[in-house]
Amino acid sequence: MKNYRKTDGNLPIGGQLALSLSKIQAMNPVVFTSDIVGDLSRELESYAPERIFVLTDENTRKYCLPVVRNDKIGEERIMTIPAGETHKSLRSVEMIWEILSARQARRNSLLINIGGGLVTDVGGFAASCFKRGIKCINIPTTLLAQVDASVGGKTGINFNGFKNEIGIFSAPEKVMIDVTFLKTLPPRQILSGFAEMLKHGLLCGGEHLKKLLGVDRDVISTAGFSALLKESVEVKERVVTEDPKEKGMRKSLNFGHTVGHALESAAIEEGTEFYHGDAVAHGMIAELYLSVLKKGFDRCLYHEIRTFIQALYPVYTPSASPEKLYGWMLHDKKNEKEGVNFTLLEAPGKVSIDNYCSRREVTEALEILSKRD
Ligand code: GLY
Repeated sequence: MKNYRKTDGNLPIGGQLALSLSKIQAMNPVVFTSDIVGDLSRELESYAPERIFVLTDENTRKYCLPVVRNDKIGEERIMTIPAGETHKSLRSVEMIWEILSARQARRNSLLINIGGGLVTDVGGFAASCFKRGIKCINIPTTLLAQVDASVGGKTGINFNGFKNEIGIFSAPEKVMIDVTFLKTLPPRQILSGFAEMLKHGLLCGGEHLKKLLGVDRDVISTAGFSALLKESVEVKERVVTEDPKEKGMRKSLNFGHTVGHALESAAIEEGTEFYHGDAVAHGMIAELYLSVLKKGFDRCLYHEIRTFIQALYPVYTPSASPEKLYGWMLHDKKNEKEGVNFTLLEAPGKVSIDNYCSRREVTEALEILSKRD
């Protein structure tokens, strides 16, 4: 078990992450922009790719591509995959490879991924393998993708019934974040991304967490919280710069996800609409409970956060048994031996990775999800 301690009020997640801003910018080039057209044009001039390809889903083709499009992007090089988790598939990747190949993409071609996490994950994966790798730029258009999925180079697809079973770490050249895209997002999608922000808040603690817990439901929208969004992305950048391939510290980003992914799998199997962020939010309740049990996380703060989450997020009680949920957790990629490996917290900003919890402890934590104070 390894502990990472917060040592300094200003630094998200501990002294181990005392990286200079220039190092972060060099490795994880996230840019916030309010002029996506101008900034993208400048990027394209600087890369001077031989051909430019674009990947969207059905929604971003209709609503986001027209905002971004410039005359360097030819119609015949725009690829569109259907929206929805079932299309995070090898078939979608094959379709992209077929088009790249048929339209003579070369190694110095560039792929621009415009969309949510599905598009940036699938497009990033396709680009990373095509001719052993072509460059890509991510333009995330959902809060979830802006704050999490598009940053840090995780790419991949679902396979054989398991989420993100096949994939590779491959960082994009640039991640261009424009909060204007959030204006047209349904509130449920905003809430979904907010769960990842809350996770980053718990991982870094301090003022950032306070601000997040003080946020008004109505403020969880567009420009009202773009400063919080930037702080949140910075937490993620620091973690992935320190540990790009998830050998240690990056496992902290899985906080809430071990239980969360199991809930998500159950919802998908039952056909219940339950967003990734909903699952992570409830996953964080269960994993904070385990943190109280095993790491001495403050019980009052746990109750405060649980009340906050339960007031914001739809509650879902899976019909899958705890045994079945536990079975899904056994497939978690963090597991390095028998049992289920959790990232837990001693306190906000004090992260503890590689904690194996017993089946009984996990079942107890799952039972908490349907309880109220
Ligand atoms: N979404 C968790 C990570 O990027 O590591």
